[in-house]
Amino acid sequence: MIYASPLIVLVGIAAVLGIILALADHFFANYGECRIDINDDKEFTVKGGNTLLAGLLDNKIFLPSACGGKATCGFCKCQVKSGGGAILPTELPFLSKLEKKDGTRMACQIKVRSDIDISIPETLLSVKEFRARVEEINDLTHDIKEAVLKLEEPETISFKPGQYIQYQVPDTAEYRAYSVSSKPSQNDRVEIITRLVPEGVCTTYLHNVLSEGDEAIITGPYGEFYLQEDSEKEIVCIAGGSGLAPIKSIVFHMFEKGTSRKITFFFGARGVKDLYYREEFEKLAEEHENFNYVPALSNPAQSDNWTGETGFVHLCLEKYLDKTSEKEGYLCGPPVMIDASVSVLKELGIKDKDIYFDKF
Ligand SMILES: Cc1cc2nc3c(=O)[nH]c(=O)nc-3n(C[C@H](O)[C@H](O)[C@H](O)COP(=O)(O)OP(=O)(O)OC[C@H]3O[C@@H](n4cnc5c(N)ncnc54)[C@H](O)[C@@H]3O)c2cc1C
Ligand code: FES
Repeated sequence: MIYASPLIVLVGIAAVLGIILALADHFFANYGECRIDINDDKEFTVKGGNTLLAGLLDNKIFLPSACGGKATCGFCKCQVKSGGGAILPTELPFLSKLEKKDGTRMACQIKVRSDIDISIPETLLSVKEFRARVEEINDLTHDIKEAVLKLEEPETISFKPGQYIQYQVPDTAEYRAYSVSSKPSQNDRVEIITRLVPEGVCTTYLHNVLSEGDEAIITGPYGEFYLQEDSEKEIVCIAGGSGLAPIKSIVFHMFEKGTSRKITFFFGARGVKDLYYREEFEKLAEEHENFNYVPALSNPAQSDNWTGETGFVHLCLEKYLDKTSEKEGYLCGPPVMIDASVSVLKELGIKDKDIYFDKF
């Protein structure tokens, strides 16, 4: 005969009770109408029981929510002044000691069960929802596509080069973040560059379902990763995969404005088949003495006949960057690439405060 240990029995009972309570909360709890007050300036009522993030979204307040409310991005923070209940374990990994003290919470984890007073940065109140039409879809590599979204309502967008938008997967509450790859001067459109993530909800839609002429719903702009326009420092850009998107916006915006700042753009890829926008960056480098484009291939095929840099991109930084001038770093791409590159940039004397990145 097999006996279950008392601990397993207790865990089992707790799990069953948890499920029963969650179901009861979902089907029977009635929290009535709850008031949400924002910055002591704006208020509206929502039906209690939903998340704060959903209540804000219904009232066209768009907090960043790159994971679509799964408690994995940590972007949907706001300061809760009253209401909101206790901090949940799912929020803890994303909150610093100071944030826990000052009432910072993750809006996707808070269930609205009573009136709530919150505070959010004014810049987020200007984030808008846009209805757009897909004008073009272009294959850039075997797993990277570009989509050109022509804005219909509102017809123009204002953003800083480097910022991102959130794309809504139609008929779902799923949103994902995508950096804008077009220049701010092209304010009637938003171009995005996406890499297919196998079985990924949004990229499967963008790569296998979305067609030219389709409608797209996006919100934005978001993000603290953007070009510091009033600086004169030399610029180092480093990207991998679809991380090229915001760097393209930054670099082409700067040359449109006639920049005299020196810019070096390092792009890490596996083989020649993973390079894209190569001709455009090479042409820019031919036309401008102050721009250098350095693709580095970690695993070139023999048939690539590659004579450029090889190895991981962070390993070739030192060869091109001296320690004499003050520099700013803009990095975008996979976390491992960014972590390794940031270490090298620091060794080269670039200060922490001058290094900006978006990891994805
Ligand atoms: C600020 C910001 C800007 C971004 N900009 C871009 C951009 O310009 N282009 C772009 O392609 N993506 C960008 N991303 C990533 C993007 O938001 C999505 O996370 C990504 O497209 C996957 O979404 P999905 O719905 O297809 O996959 P999901 O359904 O969310 O994920 C499916 C599975 O894949 C894993 N996964 C999620 N993302 C990745 C990944 N990147 N690589 C490997 N595995 C992954 C998840 O852990 C999960 O297990 C950005 C993210 C952030 C935070
Ligand atoms: S943690 Fe991603 S939306 Fe809340």
